[in-house]
Amino acid sequence: MVQSKEEVLIEVLPYIQKYEGKTFVVKYGGAAQTEQELKTTFAKDVTILKKIGINIIIVHGGGKEITETAYKLGIETQFVNGHRYTDRRMVDVVKMVLAGKINKEIVALINQNDGDAVGISGVDDNLFIAEKHLEEGADIGLVGTITRVNTALIGMFLSNKLMPVIAPFGVGTDGTIYNVNADLAAAAVATAVKAEKLVYLSDVEGVMAGGSLVSTLTESDSRKLLDDGVITGGMIPKINSAFSTLHAGVNKVHMIDGRRKHSLLLEIFTDEGIGTELVR
Ligand SMILES: Nc1ncnc2c1ncn2[C@@H]1O[C@H](COP(=O)(O)OP(=O)(O)OP(=O)(O)O)[C@@H](O)[C@H]1O
Ligand SMILES: [Mg+2]
Repeated sequence: MVQSKEEVLIEVLPYIQKYEGKTFVVKYGGAAQTEQELKTTFAKDVTILKKIGINIIIVHGGGKEITETAYKLGIETQFVNGHRYTDRRMVDVVKMVLAGKINKEIVALINQNDGDAVGISGVDDNLFIAEKHLEEGADIGLVGTITRVNTALIGMFLSNKLMPVIAPFGVGTDGTIYNVNADLAAAAVATAVKAEKLVYLSDVEGVMAGGSLVSTLTESDSRKLLDDGVITGGMIPKINSAFSTLHAGVNKVHMIDGRRKHSLLLEIFTDEGIGTELVR
């Protein structure tokens, strides 16, 4: 069905009315974060959402660039259930790449589009207090679990019409800086601020099973897909954190394809949505 421009514009009105003043947390990762054209459309999408009155909080990843930079420095990368094994050398690479490079690039691009973004990390004003994370009892180095989110800091940005762009580190009470999985950080933020929506933008259509897209996923189905080894690697922390945020009161969690231009707008401004919706 071909719609005229005015029909399309009128159709978005109910969504604007529904979401004005609400908070969305966007986990920005995958292809949308590496390809220039997709980076630009992402920056425009979040700016539009902010300008129609939605509070946008971005938590970004950077897995591929961290792995590449580590490789150039002769540091090998290892993942344990989707978590990066992080020794002292790796944590320095993570800090350099995430906070030094990627965070600043995202912020610059959004601000070029007039989105009023401010880049911070989990260390700033103790945004993410963390403790050492053990993966199924195993020590995987300087990987942290967030135990507290400084919502007052986030609230300060939002009430001043600024868009926080967060590099996922956590800081221990002893000052240790931890690498925190970006999916888990996004989920912790969504839970702490009682977000309306949490959207994971990645480099897959959504959750895939047997070669096709799962458009709606329940927790019990996801347990089965995890047990059967259908959901692996980087999808594990997304799934686990998605359901914990839903239980904590976040209304909707979506997994969408960052390789598709404007997927964020399509998800938000259409009834059907795209990708996978995770439901309680
Ligand atoms: N059942 C599944 N459906 C979809 N993707 C899956 C599934 N099982 C494993 N994956 C993997 O999860 C990956 C997405 O997670 P990944 O950590 O690689 O990216 P990201 O989280 O978007 O980016 P970053 O880690 O840099 O923040 C997909 O590219 C895919 O290889
Ligand atoms: Mg990931």
